[in-house]
Amino acid sequence: VPSHLASLFAQRVTAMVSSPTRDLLAVGPSVISLAGGFPDTTLIPLETVPALLAAISARHVEALQYGPTDGLPAMRDRIANVMAAEGMAVSPRDVLVTTGSQQALDLVCRVLIEPGDVVITEAPTYLGALSVFTACQASVVQVELDADGIRIDLLEEALKGRKVKAIYTVPTFQNPAGVTLSLDRRRRLVEIAHERNLLILEDNPYGLLRYSGDPVAPVFALDGGERVVYLGSLSKILAPGLRLGWCAAPPVLLEKLQLMKQVADLCTGNLSQLIASTWLAEYDWHSHVAALTDVYRVRRDAMLAALSQHFPADATWTQPQGGFFVWATLSGGVDTTALLTQALGSNVAFVPGRAAYLDGRGGASMRLSFSNVSVPEIREGVARIGALLPA
Ligand SMILES: Cc1ncc(COP(=O)(O)O)c(C=O)c1O
Repeated sequence: VPSHLASLFAQRVTAMVSSPTRDLLAVGPSVISLAGGFPDTTLIPLETVPALLAAISARHVEALQYGPTDGLPAMRDRIANVMAAEGMAVSPRDVLVTTGSQQALDLVCRVLIEPGDVVITEAPTYLGALSVFTACQASVVQVELDADGIRIDLLEEALKGRKVKAIYTVPTFQNPAGVTLSLDRRRRLVEIAHERNLLILEDNPYGLLRYSGDPVAPVFALDGGERVVYLGSLSKILAPGLRLGWCAAPPVLLEKLQLMKQVADLCTGNLSQLIASTWLAEYDWHSHVAALTDVYRVRRDAMLAALSQHFPADATWTQPQGGFFVWATLSGGVDTTALLTQALGSNVAFVPGRAAYLDGRGGASMRLSFSNVSVPEIREGVARIGALLPA
């Protein structure tokens, strides 16, 4: 960037850099990418779109018009129905439709966060969330997780002597670690939010994609929506190209989020909302989600089996019960950022663990995604990475 332009930039963009996964998504077709967190778009019911569009153009004059800032009533209604499938009771009035759940997180931060305010996240965490927190100049404190999600003992330690505004968590099939927060820890999280008057930001795009084990109540359901802002998405169960997400929040907060949404983009596209709400109303979306889980389960199992076969005996990895990701950690001083360069030479990509931290941790870990690759590609991709590792 020419320096005469750079000198005009606002302070808040100085710390913003392109995310390593975004750069990785640009890898060529010859590369087996275990990097991206994309759903498999061949599983999306594209064949239903012409009939949906015909029905929408016959019935909805508002399809190409501006819409209400909080979303079309039919969309908010269907969102409440999707949340009910995970055991959450919410009124459509308490839902704000957003342009992907990424926008919901951005709006929440714009409403809540002053530069320097402390936000706690899991370590590792979703890098798109780190981008939002960086953009709003939050001070991010990352707390280690284990197989049962964020470690509450370390969380309580991190809270000592700090005024914390929010705890951001992906409690179910976490991105990037694949782990799920246990029910006991969820309950304690809600208690902490009440004790300390802070908000829990529960980001749950993967919750309906469970391949094994029993469902665990969302934090929002345990709290009754008092101190929890719930971020939902249709990206993983329907189509990310529609850019449809939402947040459910206490009314006082929702009011501010609506005002901020108006600032950001006036409203989410009506056409997307009509496609999604009609599809959710008229097709058996539960069967679609069941079909997705059948496909992704086989891929998860293939990845776990390939890791056992091709990774060194002292490597460890998580055992996700759903979602898109396995988090693997290597021993022997392997640095996964350097390993990625070698892996790209072998035509395979993954996300190096450091991307999921702001503080330089994660160098021994990697995120491996099984969602948008075939079983033979998973086997081959993991074998190629394994071949680069010391036995
Ligand atoms: C944890 C998490 N939150 C939010 C998002 C963004 O979802 P959306 O497409 O709804 O903006 C993703 C997408 O990968 C994600 O993994």
